[in-house]
Amino acid sequence: MTTTSTQVAIIGAGPAGLALASKLDRLGIDNVVIERRSQEYVLARIRAGILEQTTVDFLKDIGAAGRLEQEGIPHHGVRLAYNNRIIPVGLGANTGGKVVTAYGQTEVTKDLCDLRAASPNPTVYEAENVSLHDFDSARPYVLYDEQGVTKRLNCQLIAGCDGYHGVSRVSVPESAITTYEKVYPFGWLGMLADVPPVSPEVLYANARRGFALCSMRSWTRSRYYIQCDPDDKVENWTDDMFWDELKRRLPDEVSDNIQTGPSLEKSIAPLRSFIAEPLRFGRLLLAGDAAHVVPPTGAKGLNLAFSDVHYMSEAIAAFTGDGDEDALSRYSERALARVWKTQRFSWYLTNLTHRFSDDPFDQRVKEAELAYVTTSQAGLQMIAENYVGMPL
Ligand code: APR
Ligand code: PHB
Repeated sequence: MTTTSTQVAIIGAGPAGLALASKLDRLGIDNVVIERRSQEYVLARIRAGILEQTTVDFLKDIGAAGRLEQEGIPHHGVRLAYNNRIIPVGLGANTGGKVVTAYGQTEVTKDLCDLRAASPNPTVYEAENVSLHDFDSARPYVLYDEQGVTKRLNCQLIAGCDGYHGVSRVSVPESAITTYEKVYPFGWLGMLADVPPVSPEVLYANARRGFALCSMRSWTRSRYYIQCDPDDKVENWTDDMFWDELKRRLPDEVSDNIQTGPSLEKSIAPLRSFIAEPLRFGRLLLAGDAAHVVPPTGAKGLNLAFSDVHYMSEAIAAFTGDGDEDALSRYSERALARVWKTQRFSWYLTNLTHRFSDDPFDQRVKEAELAYVTTSQAGLQMIAENYVGMPL
């Protein structure tokens, strides 16, 4: 077995792991990223694509925002639709000028991979049997197999950035961790197509047939979603069926103008709210989807991964620089405070816009809530403030 050492072992090369790695590079803190999949696999995943300003600022700070600054599309508003009406919600107007930026997570990951490729610190792809050890002591280590050879990586800290299905969170003894979970009774069927987006801003539609969402990746590439049964299969949906159902859920002025075309991709994702507490277990810190999952309504998953990494990198700098152990616990408290607020908003927007039951009373109450929040200044401000993201 070969043994090497570093300051921080980062498990997972998704957005959280790669962003942390580049931030630590900038701070002069040695790190190694260990990823189970190949780089091609990581880069092929299609997910949401709305960045909060704090996420954009983080990417600028680590030097990964060159393409984002060219290709990202600022959105000064978001739209809510119900009862055949569209209500614009000004973001800048209700938040003192803040906006969000449309830029796909796939592109963010590619930019982070490119930045990482120039780092002197290593990234191990296709690592097998990754396991975490002794993180309740001052000498934690990680074991993994690389091309059939077992490797040992000694470190001061382990950053668990390995997503919901990763090994980090489940390595913690059950008695030390509390989890909260809500599984929603539906999924999202998403479709990507090279057609101009029908709406210049993201549009969330509450419809009696179920939720629909219009988003974009560029002025020539659209991303649309419809609420579906959680057990439904992509194979059950032809492109024509998707377009027909989408149109039926959108206000007439939108569906009359929608341009259809062949899908580049279709997939179904379940909706879940999940939080693990705390985020620190001795020398193991969790970030991103390893620690929490939000339903995609509001596009907060990626942004939360970045705010975790922001707080975590400050804690790691205080710990490795000044031996400040307390900074590790403060990481957990600071990150979780923002995670819970963001979880609340994602849950709220999901409830407001989705069909949960066949009971017409439930639907009418949602329509009344939409009528209220879109006509009350306080309501509009609450939506806008949350949509652009809580301050760090
Ligand atoms: N060992 C090493 N790597 C692992 C392991 C393991 N045992 N298990 C999983 N991984 C890797 C995955 O292959 C993946 O590349 O960890 C990475 C986790 O990446 P994400 O799931 O994208 O999670 P995260 O980086 O926290 O990003 C959060 O991305 O997908 C969205 O909804 C998510 O938007 C949120 C954001
Ligand atoms: C997307 O563009 O994929 C997207 C946008 C907004 C959401 C979710 C997904 O709330």
